[in-house]
Amino acid sequence: MKVKITDLALRDAHQSLLATRMRTEDMLPIAPLMDEIGYWSVEMWGGATFDTCLRFLKEDPWERITLLKKSMPNTPFQMLLRGQNIVGYRHYSDDIVEKFVEKAFARGIEVFRIFDALNDPRNMQTAMRSVKKCGGVVEAAISYTISPVHNIQSYVKTARRLQEMGADTLCIKDMAGLISPLNAYELVKQLREETALPIHFHSHTTSGMALASSFKAVEAGCEIVDTAISSMSMGTSHSPTETVVAMLKGTEYDTGLDLRKLAEISEYFKEIRKKYKAFESEMTAIDTDVLIYQIPGGMMSNLAAQLKEAKKEDKRQEVFEEIPRVKADLGHIPLVTPTSQIVGTQATLNVITGERYKMVTNETKNLVRGLYGKTPAEIRPEIRRKIIGDEVPITVRPADLLEPEFQKLSKEVAEYARSEEDVLSYALFPQVAIEYFKERNMNEKGLNLKDLAAIAALYMRSTEKKIEPKAGGKDADLWVGAARRDAMNGGGWII
Ligand code: CO
Repeated sequence: MKVKITDLALRDAHQSLLATRMRTEDMLPIAPLMDEIGYWSVEMWGGATFDTCLRFLKEDPWERITLLKKSMPNTPFQMLLRGQNIVGYRHYSDDIVEKFVEKAFARGIEVFRIFDALNDPRNMQTAMRSVKKCGGVVEAAISYTISPVHNIQSYVKTARRLQEMGADTLCIKDMAGLISPLNAYELVKQLREETALPIHFHSHTTSGMALASSFKAVEAGCEIVDTAISSMSMGTSHSPTETVVAMLKGTEYDTGLDLRKLAEISEYFKEIRKKYKAFESEMTAIDTDVLIYQIPGGMMSNLAAQLKEAKKEDKRQEVFEEIPRVKADLGHIPLVTPTSQIVGTQATLNVITGERYKMVTNETKNLVRGLYGKTPAEIRPEIRRKIIGDEVPITVRPADLLEPEFQKLSKEVAEYARSEEDVLSYALFPQVAIEYFKERNMNEKGLNLKDLAAIAALYMRSTEKKIEPKAGGKDADLWVGAARRDAMNGGGWII
């Protein structure tokens, strides 16, 4: 059986290596060549890209799909969808999930890889149903972790349930690169025997096992393998595409992909990557800490930053030791967004306050309250009491408690939103989206650098005079007018 390849360069690879900073303009030039390769899919959206586009790159994430699709009409686009968390960090109401999927599909996403951090299928059901309704491919994912309550039987049980719920393909999502080659073999073999679903294997090269694990997964009957073009591979990223292609060449698993064309693509990303040097992850080689503490690569760099901010860098080791304990306390939850952030922050607090669960974040409380879904194992009662006292956790599907919110949010953001997509961006990241919309309005007024400098100058002088600056909305016009007049009078500053 021929093995199919999904390339992750445009999403997970730069999320893992370059803090998700790759811009659409750097993807477009290579898109036509990538379109010629014959990938099963190209993952280019979802995960942290949505947030980063709005927050840091000041790009419209929706436009990225449209622009790329024009240059890659023949390759199915794939996104990573965090179930009821969509591409955010909390649960959203069903109508937002439905609308999000509908719009993403309309723009060109075909394969929706849907996962839940706790592997609670109830958190995936609305997203799965919405994808089905549009006619997209439902790729249901199992978040892979190692714990006393996770084993092949438990994964098979989850997979069967996902099959009943309408999955078209099944992804083994090994976000930390923990799966060993023989475990991958056994897991794929069992899943093949007990479900009818094609298996898609996703791993990270953090610990160095991913290439061997991918190969054993293929041997056990896995049909689709995730890779990243070599210049965007390894470290916290993924197995190199060319290596996997070469490894399977001339065998019954031959991918049929052209190594020369792949080399050309690799050359392109090698150059582009230099532009993002400032965002390079420190984990570009093999990191065996992941094998001991099970901390995904992205989480490690976040933690390092958090500790630095708190001037507690010397506590790194203690925090690393605390993470698996918090993970176990909270019901052996897999560590992936958003649980990796919840556990990482809580473990840090436990260490730097000197007393476990003395300070507890709202997210930890909500997790214990059941608001993120059912944890793989019971949360230890004494820990639960310490965190939420006598409060009784919910047992229903968390989103059942959420009122529809799309209409309400549409009204709230009416001044800025130009499309339903804008409303969705606002629903997911309210403040960040508003800032982005304001900036978009400014840019479209045709302001050049000189204008902006003049505005800045005027702003600075007005604050000196203690005049309340009012930017945004209709007031922006007044500001632009005033700034231009000011500039003509010689007030323009160079910034
Ligand atoms: Co990943």
